Amino acid sequence: MGHIRIAGVSKGYINRRTVQRSPDTAGCFAGDRIAVLDDIHLEFHDGEMVCILGPSGCGKSTLLRIIAGFEACDRGSVVIDGRTVDGPDREHIFVFQHTALFPWMTVRENVGLGVRHLADRKEQGIRIQEYIEMVELDGFEDRYPHQLSGGMQRRAELARALVVNPETLFLDEPFTGLDFLTHMKMREEVTAMHEFIGKTIVMVTHDIDDALIMGDRIVVMSGRPSHVKLVRKLDFPRPRDFRKSPSLNDLRNEIFLMLGVNYAV
Ligand SMILES: Nc1ncnc2c1ncn2[C@@H]1O[C@H](COP(=O)(O)OP(=O)(O)OP(=O)(O)O)[C@@H](O)[C@H]1O
Ligand SMILES: [Mg+2]
Repeated sequence: MGHIRIAGVSKGYINRRTVQRSPDTAGCFAGDRIAVLDDIHLEFHDGEMVCILGPSGCGKSTLLRIIAGFEACDRGSVVIDGRTVDGPDREHIFVFQHTALFPWMTVRENVGLGVRHLADRKEQGIRIQEYIEMVELDGFEDRYPHQLSGGMQRRAELARALVVNPETLFLDEPFTGLDFLTHMKMREEVTAMHEFIGKTIVMVTHDIDDALIMGDRIVVMSGRPSHVKLVRKLDFPRPRDFRKSPSLNDLRNEIFLMLGVNYAV
């Protein structure tokens, strides 16, 4: 489960700066449309870790929200496991670009949201604890988000997403705001977790190295209006190391160039 087909998806927004009351629209607001996504066709397979790269503002989060059913597209369709997406679904869990833990709830309560439908309280408690331990937050169950570091908040969010045992997981820049070492550790953890759970994960990132080290497949999008510039299956063995794999390093340089940077950092 977790097969995703994106067929001809296009999306635009009204440009707020040009919005004005228009006599043509009976006094309603009218404005220019900014084309964000332009005829996107993609297919992701069961259990794949897909990483989507692209310049800031090109529409990566918009595409992810459309795939997850949080937003409608203007044209085209998204089909997951044979069902057309027409809204959010408990089987498809989203982790947002900016942290979204409920500040008035503890770690345990936040993580517990994903299993609140379970009638069996004991099973509920076991599941919550299992995932808190998976992200190494045991001992912090009763802390509130403001009492956690940025990395711990991110890990709590991942636990909240994973406890649902979703068929697909959508991660929008899950490592944003983390310090370098925590970022590296989280990258390893999410990669290991993906190998363990074997579910489809679609992750948006601006970090080329994250995409190349973690992805089974990468997608590079162009600037706005955004189209797909590159789709590449990554067959490099893991753990991946740019210094030891000249072909991986060449691909890294190619993507840097594709994104308008003339040298790899
Ligand atoms: N709800 C909205 N209303 C109007 N414009 C929007 C809305 N959401 C996104 N946009 C615009 O669509 C474009 C793409 O936004 P999006 O957040 O998808 O980009 P992104 O690739 O995720 O950027 P970043 O890498 O900075 O997170 C931007 O120009 C943004 O201003
Ligand atoms: Mg974004």
